[in-house]
Amino acid sequence: MLDYQLMPKKCASLIQDADYVIAFTGAGISTAAGIPDFRSPQGIYTTRQFDPRTFDLQYFLKHPDAFYRFAQELIDILRSTQPTYTHQFLAQLESHHLINGIITQNIDALHQMAGTKNIIELHGSYYSASCIRCNVFRESNLDIDWWQDKIVHSPRSPVPICPRCDGVIKPGMVFFGEPVLDMEKARDWISRCDLMLVLGSSLNVYPAALIPQLADATIVVVNKGSVSLAPARDRYFVDSDVDVYFQQVAQYLGIDNIDSE
Ligand code: OAD
Repeated sequence: MLDYQLMPKKCASLIQDADYVIAFTGAGISTAAGIPDFRSPQGIYTTRQFDPRTFDLQYFLKHPDAFYRFAQELIDILRSTQPTYTHQFLAQLESHHLINGIITQNIDALHQMAGTKNIIELHGSYYSASCIRCNVFRESNLDIDWWQDKIVHSPRSPVPICPRCDGVIKPGMVFFGEPVLDMEKARDWISRCDLMLVLGSSLNVYPAALIPQLADATIVVVNKGSVSLAPARDRYFVDSDVDVYFQQVAQYLGIDNIDSE
């Protein structure tokens, strides 16, 4: 019988002994920062707080105001949010040369805020935007004040408009119906890795959910609740809060300079 559990001490030694480590992260690593996930009991799809069509490209093209009403709330959260313990732990792993890169589905840029440099944002970022009509307006490094100005301060018509052609501005996050970003680069990392940490994702959205399946590597899943990945040899499933689990792993790795507030 296979043992799918993984004690924090063993996880620490897997990280130390591996040659090429990747973390693949999802919305669950940002919930402690106050950003809700999608499919947990509190997730925005489960509670139906927002219609899932809000994140569909064709729906956005017809009803951009639906997305931007969601964005008004998201911006309020992003203004005050800080990286979680797990974001900081992963950044520390990079500075200790214990991890090679992070592939994230998240658009919140909290990995970069924590100090991570080597990152693939598969679903894009909320910190970039472009005009859907002229494509001349194209910004890759927007700050949150720009969005605040465009969306929150225009409560009656929260849809930001291109200064050049009056087209609708779309955020740089990937909507359903759009291709994910940097999949080729992700495939290259996956082909090299011998350890993948899969953190805070239900693994329900494709093609992102293919990432652990494509890896010929030891897989450590740390997630509250079940994930859509079949059990197999060298796959470990830890049903835990990521911050609680990695605080213990960090002790075994001697990483102790993370603010856990
Ligand atoms: P999901 O909401 O599907 O999964 C998040 C998982 O994290 C759930 O299983 C939660 O139980 C778990 N979780 C929440 N807080 C946690 C914590 N503190 N510790 C451990 N686990 C925790 O989110 P994703 O899998 O990231 O795509 O969703 C993937 C994609 O679906 C998103 O990138 C987004 C969405 O539609 C697009 O917008 C294109």
